[in-house]
Amino acid sequence: MNIRNGLQLHADDIKRQSMAKWFQNNPERAEQLSKQVGPLYFDYSKNLITDETLALLTAYAESQKLEQSIEKLFAGDIVNPTEQRPALHWALRSPDCELEISGASINEQCKESLEQMSQVVSALHNKTHLGYDGQAITDVVNIGIGGSHLGPELISSALPTLPDAPKCHFIANIDGQELVDLKNKLNPATTLFIVVSKSFTTQETQLNANWAYDWLKQAAKDKPLDKHFIAVTANPIAAKESFFKPHRIVEFGSWVGGRYSLWSSAGLISAIAIGMESFKELLSGANVMDVHFKTTQLTENMPVILALIDWWYETYFDAQSHAVVPYHQSLIGLPRYLQQLIMESNGKSVGLQSKEIIGHTAPTIFGDVGSNSQHSFHQLLHQGTRFIPVDFIIAAKSNHPYIQHDNWLKAHCLAQSQALMLGQNDSSIPSYKQLPGNRPSITIVANTMSPEALGALIAFYEHRVYASSILYGIDAFDQWGVELGKHTAKKIISALKSEEDFTQMDSSTQKLIKKLYA
Ligand code: F6P
Repeated sequence: MNIRNGLQLHADDIKRQSMAKWFQNNPERAEQLSKQVGPLYFDYSKNLITDETLALLTAYAESQKLEQSIEKLFAGDIVNPTEQRPALHWALRSPDCELEISGASINEQCKESLEQMSQVVSALHNKTHLGYDGQAITDVVNIGIGGSHLGPELISSALPTLPDAPKCHFIANIDGQELVDLKNKLNPATTLFIVVSKSFTTQETQLNANWAYDWLKQAAKDKPLDKHFIAVTANPIAAKESFFKPHRIVEFGSWVGGRYSLWSSAGLISAIAIGMESFKELLSGANVMDVHFKTTQLTENMPVILALIDWWYETYFDAQSHAVVPYHQSLIGLPRYLQQLIMESNGKSVGLQSKEIIGHTAPTIFGDVGSNSQHSFHQLLHQGTRFIPVDFIIAAKSNHPYIQHDNWLKAHCLAQSQALMLGQNDSSIPSYKQLPGNRPSITIVANTMSPEALGALIAFYEHRVYASSILYGIDAFDQWGVELGKHTAKKIISALKSEEDFTQMDSSTQKLIKKLYA
């Protein structure tokens, strides 16, 4: 019998079993199905898995050559075949990476980039980075979108801002309302814009950067503006062709994927907010997870085990979505960061070497901080008809002094995973009050949400995504699906100028154009 058929039969059997009973019969279950990796504790015992499940899933991982794929990632092999690139985000946090790209040491490049970042950060913190009229910079605005926004914003909001740091802001969207709202809070003479774009061609970012330049120019008149703009990019030529001075361009390697770039100089704004020391701790926390992923056998490897459990649910339990619920206010940006990381990486339907995919790829990711989420979508998690695995994330020690709040927050988090698992199947109560239970979740616990823990957490998700992509048989590092929309938007803009193009469009779009541009 092939592995998939074996798993199907096993899934049919597991669906008739009860997690609650497994816990009753085996007091060691939580001990057996949990693991500490660096600063993070993973409890995956509240899942529809047994030893047999894990053995079968591991056999599937072996059949997909997962171990070899992990080796390839860390060897710097081409793991992004459609763009003919390696994926070396992990090298940004690896002090002992010996790889070279085109004869240049990656490690040296990383050190250089950290040094450049460090200089910018200290000049801002020491108030020696002065604007066009000699005043120190008070506000820094990150202009970037997708990976050039979500990761840096997550780090900046998840970790404490240093008292010497300027105020940090983000503009991502092409909706001019963002500019109106932000402009009123800024003084052009004391504002620094960091334009982050790997490609330096992203339309939203270019338009926002040009707006920032015009806005500053109007205020500064003829005074030089170069101290107000830094470009962070893998395409320095394009930045130079725009209005950036060569000494204000911080480069990062094209071997870092956009949504994996927060560890590079693309994370400059977060280093400004949290300081270089914390930024380096973030990198070393991620490195702990890298070493674990690289060196641990499949059966003990946390990103692998959880990618396998995800695949198990997606393939045999029709799990179409996955919830991420951090019980930690500072991680409010995590669900949307993971939406890009997971759905842009693994939302594909063409396999490696254009092979057909059997089954499904990434689920829809959604989430919010607990306990807010309990008052929003948990009803569906508990009683809905869909099967939705949940990731709970929490810290043992909070960063605030309110003990009662902390006790309640933890109680709510634990209550949710317990209620999902146990349900409420008391026949003496009406059916609408019954909860089926047997619904899976994992709980990830950090001691505190330190830079190290956050680094390990994000790296864990990155590796889980890569492991998933190997199970699906796809390229996790390209994103061709987003290109068509970009080209079509350009066509619509040019159609506004040319009647001919306009009339070739479908009637729905034509009518909508008339309504919107009237
Ligand atoms: O949306 C597609 C995308 O290319 C993302 O992968 C990327 O994070 C984002 O656009 C921004 O790209 P860039 O950093 O090149 O401006």
